[in-house]
Amino acid sequence: ASDMRINPSILAADFVNMQAELARIASADFVHVDVMDNHFVPNLTFGPQMVERIQATSPVPLDVHLMIEDPERWAPGYAELGAASVTFHLEASTEPVSLARRLRSIGARAGVAIKPDTPVESLFEVLNEFDQILIMTVEPGFGGQSFRHDTVPKISALSAEARRRGSSVWLQVDGGVSASTLEHAARAGADTFVAGSAVFGADDPDEAIATLRALAHR
Ligand code: DX5
Ligand code: ZN
Repeated sequence: ASDMRINPSILAADFVNMQAELARIASADFVHVDVMDNHFVPNLTFGPQMVERIQATSPVPLDVHLMIEDPERWAPGYAELGAASVTFHLEASTEPVSLARRLRSIGARAGVAIKPDTPVESLFEVLNEFDQILIMTVEPGFGGQSFRHDTVPKISALSAEARRRGSSVWLQVDGGVSASTLEHAARAGADTFVAGSAVFGADDPDEAIATLRALAHR
């Protein structure tokens, strides 16, 4: 794809210096905000009150990734507070299509995420209901894990299917994305790259973003 996006994940940022951390990634396309409830994943971050403050403070739009149970109950609130995109997990959702429609009606981009071991085929028929699909390239819950190469065929399959259907859905990858792994996902058709430790672990996060962006365009 010609249009590539780099979305740093603030999971790797210093939570008590959030305002300063957000200012360090002003060249990003979106800031990726990981919401975890300690039930869908064995880790806990923050909820709507914190995300509302991030929304008020961030120089770039919010890409919210909900790793939570019962997204039907909670996801619309993140669209209402102004997040540019809200992504919920297919594994946690009872009514993914109607939830996506609700998110769109509030004005957010609707996203659906799948874990590394969840097949992609069930998404083929409903591709047009979503603005973005997140293919997890690690088991969700923690930053700093290694990119799972066995997920790359799923990116290729979704990319081919989207092309077949004339869909402009964004294909996002999240987990272990770095200067050494990004190209595998990009070659398979991903166009939106989430990176936590690769960006916030760098001395200059904006420089790390530029490096990843250049690799995505290669
Ligand atoms: C993991 C989160 C990711 C995480 C990625 O469950 O969804 O967004 O921050 O971190 P890295 O890039 O360090 O793998
Ligand atoms: Zn994430």
